[in-house]
Amino acid sequence: MIDIHSHILPMVDDGSQSVEDSLMMLINAYEDGTDEIVLTPHLAYEYGFENPYSYIKNLFEDFQNIVKQEHIPIQLYLGTEFLMSSPDVFLEHLEDITHMNHTQYILMEFFFDVDDKTILDAIDVVTVNNLIPIIAHPERYETVQVSSHLPWDMINHGALLQMNKGSIFGKYGSMARDIALEMLEAHQYHFVGSDAHGLQRRTSLMYDSYCFVRDYYGQDYADKIFKENAKKMLKDVDIRKRGTNE
Ligand SMILES: [Fe+2]
Repeated sequence: MIDIHSHILPMVDDGSQSVEDSLMMLINAYEDGTDEIVLTPHLAYEYGFENPYSYIKNLFEDFQNIVKQEHIPIQLYLGTEFLMSSPDVFLEHLEDITHMNHTQYILMEFFFDVDDKTILDAIDVVTVNNLIPIIAHPERYETVQVSSHLPWDMINHGALLQMNKGSIFGKYGSMARDIALEMLEAHQYHFVGSDAHGLQRRTSLMYDSYCFVRDYYGQDYADKIFKENAKKMLKDVDIRKRGTNE
């Protein structure tokens, strides 16, 4: 499996708080069947997480060297989870946003009480700048939970959608779980991420989520959102184009 959303890079945000915890999260993920992980520390000025590319690229290289020394056979990539509070903040910090493995893809989240227009305007400003927005955990936003058309609107505006692995098990409440199941049924998700923050509460383990999706929504779809789409994304293939996501 490929995990495209994690807070495993140590001591930069509210994720892992030590190198030891980070290494253990990677070992746990590898033993659970994940062999590639994108490290996506928060870039969220409003939450006090200021992690521009110029800062985290060096930390990432240092951490990668430690992982190699420890012989953990897991492929790491760098990205960020950008808090998209407004188009102005996005444009102001365009150079600071770490793309997913140097591709045209960026991972972004919103405030949980964001409204529909803010989401769609944000997607538009990202695509106009020739980037592909991946929306982190749409099932967690209140407006997505009550407007069934919104996931299609986001997709039609050019966004791709990433489910958190724990949503289907009710880790973020029953509303998030129910909409995640509906979105899986409609094949609206393109990726899955652990959104791992530590060893206990939000872990790096994804296999039980993969099995659930495989058993209820089919192996083809499970393989697509837990691996194949991410593989293409990391090679900078635009999976929105006809023929690449079929
Ligand atoms: Fe996250």
